[in-house]
Amino acid sequence: KVINCEPLKSLIRSVPDFPKSGILFYDITTLLKDKAGFAELIDAFAQYYIGKQIDLVLGIEARGFIFGPALAYRLNAGFVPVRKPGKLPAETITVKYDLEYGSDSLQIHKDAIAPGQRVIIVDDLLATGGTMQATIDLVKQMGGEVAGIAVAIELDFLKGRNRFPEYDVCSLLHYDD
Ligand code: PRP
Ligand code: MG
Repeated sequence: KVINCEPLKSLIRSVPDFPKSGILFYDITTLLKDKAGFAELIDAFAQYYIGKQIDLVLGIEARGFIFGPALAYRLNAGFVPVRKPGKLPAETITVKYDLEYGSDSLQIHKDAIAPGQRVIIVDDLLATGGTMQATIDLVKQMGGEVAGIAVAIELDFLKGRNRFPEYDVCSLLHYDD
């Protein structure tokens, strides 16, 4: 029962060879600046999660910070930033994850999630799922309950969601290449 948002694809700009040769980049800035388009996207997420007793929305830096807070406001939930290393001021928990070449890490404040809180994780895009898997691991380490995963765009051909079959993924726009 994910709302059909396919018409919003016309507001997403495809940029070939960004950030490097051979990559087709789906640019959401053209959707964000469209007031009806942005509202429709947030409404679609909100309708999916309203009534599911969500305590916290986690947004993944950087582009998860665009959708996460708008959704948290609609769900009457709190917002928690998951950040790149060295950005959070208080005590943190770190998770490391592998990239195509090398690795990266994400951090969350140690007191950001209370045990048993129902959390959804929000990002702009699900590609290989590495970033999302790392964030799921953070939530579980802290005793939070992953009540859902929300992404604006899913690159279906990368099958990222197969990395976490036990979780419910709400993705609004699908691409096959
Ligand atoms: C992009 C995107 C997702 C992630 C998806 O972020 O915003 O967070 O990659 O890729 P994955 O599913 O293969 O892990 P990026 O790391 O480029 O950083 P940014 O959001 O700060 O631009
Ligand atoms: Mg990102």
